[in-house]
Amino acid sequence: MNIGIDRLSFYTSHYYVDLKELAQARSVDADKYYVGIGQEKMAIPSPDEDVVTLAASAAYPLMQAGDLADVELLLFATESGIDQSKAAGVYVHGLLEMAPRCRCVELKQACYSATAGIQLAIGFVARNPTKKALVIASDIARYELGTPGEATQGCGSVAILISADPRIMTIDPECGYYTEDVMDFWRPNYRSEALVDGKYSTMVYIHALVESWKQYAELTGRTLADFDRFCYHIPFTKMAEKAHQKLCRKTKVELDNQAMQALLDESLRYSRITGNCYSGSMYVGLTSLLDLAEEDLAGKRIGLYSYGSGCVGEFFSGVIQPGYRAALFAEQHRNLLENRTELTYQQYENIFNYGVPTDGGDYVFPQYKTGAFRFSGISQHKREYESLV
Ligand code: HMG
Repeated sequence: MNIGIDRLSFYTSHYYVDLKELAQARSVDADKYYVGIGQEKMAIPSPDEDVVTLAASAAYPLMQAGDLADVELLLFATESGIDQSKAAGVYVHGLLEMAPRCRCVELKQACYSATAGIQLAIGFVARNPTKKALVIASDIARYELGTPGEATQGCGSVAILISADPRIMTIDPECGYYTEDVMDFWRPNYRSEALVDGKYSTMVYIHALVESWKQYAELTGRTLADFDRFCYHIPFTKMAEKAHQKLCRKTKVELDNQAMQALLDESLRYSRITGNCYSGSMYVGLTSLLDLAEEDLAGKRIGLYSYGSGCVGEFFSGVIQPGYRAALFAEQHRNLLENRTELTYQQYENIFNYGVPTDGGDYVFPQYKTGAFRFSGISQHKREYESLV
């Protein structure tokens, strides 16, 4: 049975900071960001957005299209959780008015958990072929102001519908995966910003890639030449390029700049102007590739590398389906990305420092521009959400 991605919808906040503006505030050459790490803009969530509103807004087009009717499993992948007990997906289930007969749970392993969710969802659909699973990756990447990670912040969510006979991409059964207990990036429960050993994290990312690829190649007999495009986890776009260069060197494949652009560039464009969104990052890359590739990718095999610090890496693959373009939300994504509002440095810092109150009092948040849903306030320690549609 062919199982894979039937729908893929991306949402990010309406606000961004141009990294030229950040460079000026930090007295850094803007090319360090634009060229050195390959990032141009970072999406900033307004105070009335959180992982729930990002996720519900990402999945809203699926609700409108009637695609959620047969969903009996909702897996919410995040490392920006809003509650230690209740799964963020349960709020989304309510906002999207999904049927009560549905399993719902939150998954965590840094940026990797959406891939774990997809593999679990494939198992679910294999046993329940007429049912569907919704995997939502939703995160807000936050580092302390003035730290090296700051320019790699971002936010976003991707809603991924998994079904039998999918319209977009079947997922191959073979995968290579790798776990190792390391401290390259982490966020203790008492902190709202991540801690990171930046250079070390890039080395671990690549080590896990090489190990995952080795297994995948042994299992399938495939070589890098068997893929038409690659999508990598994208903490910043230069990381994906460096990872692919390394894989080519290891496997003794020649790769000039032009060949690399052809294999990777379409998948990097959305991330270059939105930043890291942790669990969703690789899927933002896949969305970007499918939305922006001029070539018809039907029948092409895509190599996918998912990485989450701490760490778990997985290399897997999929084959794009005939007619896939009709199932995309490319137009909505273009509208969203073309109609965002640029923040000044000071506006960014004000929003960054706007902490969600923790005293259990009643708060109503100022209204910013959001998607279909907003985080409107808190009452008696309970988060309140508002539907705008
Ligand atoms: P840094 O140390 O400040 O930057 O931050 P740098 O000095 O290494 O410079 C970056 C690049 O810009 C270098 O290129 C410079 O040469 C170049 P490279 O040597 O790497 O090829 N550069 C310039 N280029 C052009 N013109 C200039 C200029 N100046 C410098 N004027 C660092 C880099 C990665 C450490 C930082 O961004 C960071 O800490 N990021 C956060 C951690 C991260 O993203 N790690 C990636 C792997 S781990 C991962 O992906 C998991 C993650 O998503 C979390 C999760 O799993 O949940 C993060």
